[in-house]
Amino acid sequence: MKKKDNIFVCDVCGYESGKWFGKCPQCGEWNSVKEIVVNHPSNHSSAKKEQFTSLKNANYETILRMDSGFEHLNRVLGGGLVNGSVILIGGDPGVGKSTLVTQLCEKFEKSFYISGEESFEQIFLRYQRVTTTQSEVKVMNTSYLDLALEQLEREIAKDDQNQIVIIDSIQTMRTSQTNSLPGGAVQIRECTSQIVEFAKSNKIPVFIIAHITKSGQIAGPKLVEHLVDVVLYFEGNNETDLRILRSVKNRFGPTNEIGVFEMREKGLMEVLDPSERFYDTHSNLSGNSLGVIIEGNTPLVIEVQGLVVTAQFASPRRLSKGINTERLSLISAVLTKRLNIEIEKNDIFINLLGGMKTTDPGIDFSVALSLYSSFTNRLFPKGSASFGEIGLDGKIRAVSFPEKRVTELKRLGFSKVFVPLKTKNRLSENGITGIEIVEYDTLQEALINIFK
Ligand code: TYD
Ligand code: MG
Repeated sequence: MKKKDNIFVCDVCGYESGKWFGKCPQCGEWNSVKEIVVNHPSNHSSAKKEQFTSLKNANYETILRMDSGFEHLNRVLGGGLVNGSVILIGGDPGVGKSTLVTQLCEKFEKSFYISGEESFEQIFLRYQRVTTTQSEVKVMNTSYLDLALEQLEREIAKDDQNQIVIIDSIQTMRTSQTNSLPGGAVQIRECTSQIVEFAKSNKIPVFIIAHITKSGQIAGPKLVEHLVDVVLYFEGNNETDLRILRSVKNRFGPTNEIGVFEMREKGLMEVLDPSERFYDTHSNLSGNSLGVIIEGNTPLVIEVQGLVVTAQFASPRRLSKGINTERLSLISAVLTKRLNIEIEKNDIFINLLGGMKTTDPGIDFSVALSLYSSFTNRLFPKGSASFGEIGLDGKIRAVSFPEKRVTELKRLGFSKVFVPLKTKNRLSENGITGIEIVEYDTLQEALINIFK
């Protein structure tokens, strides 16, 4: 049977098929199909060079890691930069991706900055603004990846451990390997695999910047996550200067680790004590309560702000910043059912201070406390915090790492913490004392006692 060597790819969403299609079955876009020629190695000449190597006798010391100059970035990367690794930095336009990589250049002897986005002048002005020491940064303004990589092969010093390459952004790059438009799924994939090959064969770390686009007009970073070694997302919003760098994939370390930065006049600054930035002990108003979450390995004290007001329309609104709206609906439903209060008929809003986003279920308890506080107009006690997951039955359930959470609260001078049952035992096993620990079995019991 003749082997088919062409595949058809949707240039918008990356859907692949063996057959031509007029309308993409995945995203519904018309005329987005691109035909890709798949190159099968004609004979096995290249495969002959590959051979098995035994792990048993291999003699590798631990992976060599380079200091990125940012303590937080090192941690998010799992201990520093690894040579030959490809790191994707995704984020909304304007969040500070280019700023971050420009500041990185300062820490390396030589950096190669390939930009298809900004002019030389723009990059120069930013470099001047955010860096203090002068290091060698070579800038190339191009969208043609083949040309850039060809030049790089010539320019990079072989076996030098102190160089990085930056591609800003992957959506502006194009390669002659395929004839589709820059920014499309096909180009992005092809360019990324070319970059990965370059990084591996030259043993040089490469940062790829990718924009997240809400409209979906330009293909996003999701398309290439499987091709690269590390995927970092830079999160933040216009309302705060805080930026959170989060690892969602890391072949060299743990994931979901976070680093916290602040966007200043002169670029990004690391926030060395992040907990202090996500709450405000002075604003003791109804609707506010404090919780403690774990992001990666980092415990963070977070202020949860709840607002319960009479509904404006027949179907009440649910608005949530920082936690999933479904989770908010679930908690308000539990409050209504288990406490017999008519909270559900109201408009309900939740906001985590500082633009924090979390999926840690340990925030549930604090969300319930904030909603109840706003609904009843009673104050959450000063100097205290809470953590725990809420079940549909109204029970407060244990969450991961209670020791880390309580230790962080102790460090910050909290005097009291509301927790699920059996937490006390676990804490005393770990020798954590010096903070009042109050256990609750059900939400009902907790609310009645906390807001006495
Ligand atoms: P930028 O790094 O260009 O964002 P991205 O590459 O993710 O699109 O940063 C954009 C914003 O950051 C811009 O609105 C201006 C602001 N900014 C500062 O506040 N301080 C600075 O020192 C720099 C360079 C940028
Ligand atoms: Mg940019």
